[in-house]
Amino acid sequence: QAHFARGNALAGRHVLVTAGPTHEPIDPVRYIANRSSGKQGFAIAGALAALGARVTLVAGPVTLPTPMGVTRIDVETAREMAAAVDAALPADAAVMVAAVADWRTEASPEKIKKTGDGAVPALHFTENPDILATLAASPARPRLVIGFAAETEKLIEHATAKRARKRADWIVANDVSVDVMGGERNSVHIVTADGVESWETLPKQAVADRLAARIAQALA
Ligand code: CTP
Ligand code: CA
Repeated sequence: QAHFARGNALAGRHVLVTAGPTHEPIDPVRYIANRSSGKQGFAIAGALAALGARVTLVAGPVTLPTPMGVTRIDVETAREMAAAVDAALPADAAVMVAAVADWRTEASPEKIKKTGDGAVPALHFTENPDILATLAASPARPRLVIGFAAETEKLIEHATAKRARKRADWIVANDVSVDVMGGERNSVHIVTADGVESWETLPKQAVADRLAARIAQALA
């Protein structure tokens, strides 16, 4: 067990966490991305490690320090994230916090130039693999699979539908219509088979600590 751990409730467990955005290149100087600071996912990875878990954090491009005791794998695209998640298995639990870009486009090897006459480039999109849904349906499915759902409207309705569609055990729904993106606090609802548990707005670190404790309880 790691020397920095505050507890041992997750000793011997391996937990996989994804965090941050993914970047899908358009050309060497441009990309498509989701808005994500990575703060909530990194805090969760740290909180799990503090409870004694072995934690693999698959991180998209963010500028955050690696939490103590966490093994970090940096990726750029959704497909790289999917491959890194696959390579990190088996795991007892997975917490998919990443804001994965839903679509990619075929990257131009050269910088796309303006034509000068106002004509715009046409981007052709392909859907990225759903990392969470693939993991939840795989033979190597972790015992506990947790997804996140950032929504601007119909929060619980969308989160409940996502839980079923992706076969996740829990969905952590967060209302991003309030001041959450890039901020220090988060307002979440935990959607499980038993219903919805709403937490008061808390600092992201407190959300992480509470979620890690709940994961430890579920795996006990
Ligand atoms: N997710 C994933 N791989 C993707 C897309 C999403 O693993 N290609 C995961 C996210 O990490 C999150 C959950 O799925 O845990 C929900 O992501 P979200 O973007 O809310 O779901 P989508 O199915 O992409 O729906 P939406 O149309 O609302 O974007
Ligand atoms: Ca999405």
